[in-house]
Amino acid sequence: MARVVVVGSFNVDLTAYMSRLPLPGETVQGREFVTGPGGKGSNQAVAAARLGADVSFIGRVGVDSFGEMGLQIWSKEGINTTHVVRDPQVATGVAPIWVDDGGENSIVVVLGANLALSTADIDAAESAIASADVLLTQLEVRQEAARHALELARRHHVKTILNPAPADVLDKSMIALADYLTPNQSELQTLFGVQEGDLESVPLNDGQTLVLTAGGDGAYWRCADGSGGHQPIFPMDVVDTTGAGDAFNAGLAVALAEGHALPQAVAFASATAALCVTRPGTANSMPQRAEVDALLAGR
Ligand code: RIB
Repeated sequence: MARVVVVGSFNVDLTAYMSRLPLPGETVQGREFVTGPGGKGSNQAVAAARLGADVSFIGRVGVDSFGEMGLQIWSKEGINTTHVVRDPQVATGVAPIWVDDGGENSIVVVLGANLALSTADIDAAESAIASADVLLTQLEVRQEAARHALELARRHHVKTILNPAPADVLDKSMIALADYLTPNQSELQTLFGVQEGDLESVPLNDGQTLVLTAGGDGAYWRCADGSGGHQPIFPMDVVDTTGAGDAFNAGLAVALAEGHALPQAVAFASATAALCVTRPGTANSMPQRAEVDALLAGR
């Protein structure tokens, strides 16, 4: 069984569905409101578990009912939470989200307990990191925590994926710790200052791979040796794009942990994301392995 360790955030998503997103100063009427589990790290952990991996999640939640929601979904999905810390000092993260009829979203994250995840928490989870095939992390925790997780994974020869979301400026030395870097277009621009889609200008270290998620244009990858490729999207009826990037990263992590070659891993990741956007919600919209295999088999 592929072993994936995810270091990252948990938020409770407070999602309002509406015909179109409001402009500044405008009030629009919503159609539906849903409260559910989210957070990029936890979404990725849930998706990886549904794809069949043995998953450990490392993060922090508050001692509140929203934190309980995290514990419930991780327990239901069989995710190891030995290294989830419950923090009595801070509230669990929340994310008010707006989704329009085209499935596009706007998200605000109030990260709360996620920002208290410390390098000491990561050290306490070293054995879980050391025994993983792949470590996956993002930027909804403090950079020093994500960075330390990447360092420990490297020390134990565990493959590393850094999903640099939400967009933030990163030190070159942190970027260098990622075997796989998985930005979207705006994150790519924030990280490297390159024009949209200009993968050729991105400086990669030896052995590093850049996988760009380009929305409706699919995914592009480029390896440090100059090779690269493109995976078109699987066309689907889009309901809610929230969590699509998380689904993609989980798919990539699981496929790489299972030893698949990069083109197959990117196809698997794209199929996972394609199924995620057909349903409302984030963690709850992540597909099961059989659905992804069926979509890939029907191509
Ligand atoms: O990627 C989607 C996620 O971003 C949401 O679940 C929200 O919590 C924010 O973290």
